[in-house]
Amino acid sequence: MPYPTDPFRFAVISDPHVALPHTVWQAENRFHLVEVSIPALEQIFEQLCALDLDFLLLPGDLVQHGERENHAWLAQRLNQLPFPAYVVPGNHDVIVQQGCDRTLSQAEFPQVYQKQGYDGSDSPQAQGYHQELLPGLHLVTLNSNRFEADGQLYPVGWIGEDQCQWLAQTLAKLQGQTVWLMLHHNLIEHLPGQSRTSMGQRYMVANAPAVRDLLTQHGVQLIFTGHLHVQDIARQGSLWEITTGSLVSYPHPYRIIEASPQPDQNRLQLRITSPWVASVPDWPTLQDTSRNWMAQRSPRFMVRLLTNPPLNVSQREAVAIAPQLSQFWAAVAAGDTDFDCQHLPQALQPFFSRFNGSEIGDNQAVLDLALNPVS
Ligand SMILES: [Fe+2]
Ligand SMILES: [Fe+2]
Repeated sequence: MPYPTDPFRFAVISDPHVALPHTVWQAENRFHLVEVSIPALEQIFEQLCALDLDFLLLPGDLVQHGERENHAWLAQRLNQLPFPAYVVPGNHDVIVQQGCDRTLSQAEFPQVYQKQGYDGSDSPQAQGYHQELLPGLHLVTLNSNRFEADGQLYPVGWIGEDQCQWLAQTLAKLQGQTVWLMLHHNLIEHLPGQSRTSMGQRYMVANAPAVRDLLTQHGVQLIFTGHLHVQDIARQGSLWEITTGSLVSYPHPYRIIEASPQPDQNRLQLRITSPWVASVPDWPTLQDTSRNWMAQRSPRFMVRLLTNPPLNVSQREAVAIAPQLSQFWAAVAAGDTDFDCQHLPQALQPFFSRFNGSEIGDNQAVLDLALNPVS
């Protein structure tokens, strides 16, 4: 069969930024609550093990900041799970292309995660891979990290020419079958004007239009990404992109997705639920604590948002307004955004109110896809 025929269930955990306790950075304004990564993962794994899960997807930023020992911990933990887990690298997984004593190199990444998709079978320099998730259901992944000639990470996502060629060949081979894509950086906008502002662009693949065209030509309908640390489901043309928020920032979400193929109607229905981790040992009020953590660290970030295009507010005015926006990013990160803009200066209200609402639901949603898009 070119498509799955039986119901199946899978989960998505993004941006876990795993940090063993002795590796945790103690920077004062650290945005991510990496202390909860391992206890939150353990709690979710316990739940997923009881669910008869078919597979787990992790779209990158697997560790805090490239640490070899955090990668080793995660790889061995994923190896122990009773279901397959698939990963891609995020910008925090390989910090410098050649690595160092403390951090993993790009070449080592697929070796560490051999059992999480990188079995060495395909793709130039093992940058991505293709795996059959279930009979008739395929996962293709890309490495959206790009390095400068000196080995430093490029500040936006990029899919290189060699990967685009490999993607085209792989999709041509799989023509007529159900194929999903996973990568770290976004291919579709999840925030208003994301691809037009410097603050939004760094979360996207810079050559996204070319990659989206390739996917559309070959009937791919679904993409999984991370990086943005926001719960959002967005559509562009026939493509849907599910971006999942970070496990270590508010609201500490993950996703469980029930898939029901209906071959007689050529439909594949995905019923998405998104639990939020309510607490972990040592963090009994995680949701409140984490929302406040984010609010306390938001003003600097909000000043940047206000002073940058398209708002171009003066620095002095931005500093005065930023405290009124302390809850804004938490509202966006949680998805299904409903931020009260009434208290903001009138000239700014249209900009911030555009973040509100959701096309289909960002946490709970039902997606109707074609089971075989070319039949
Ligand atoms: Fe990232
Ligand atoms: Fe991240």
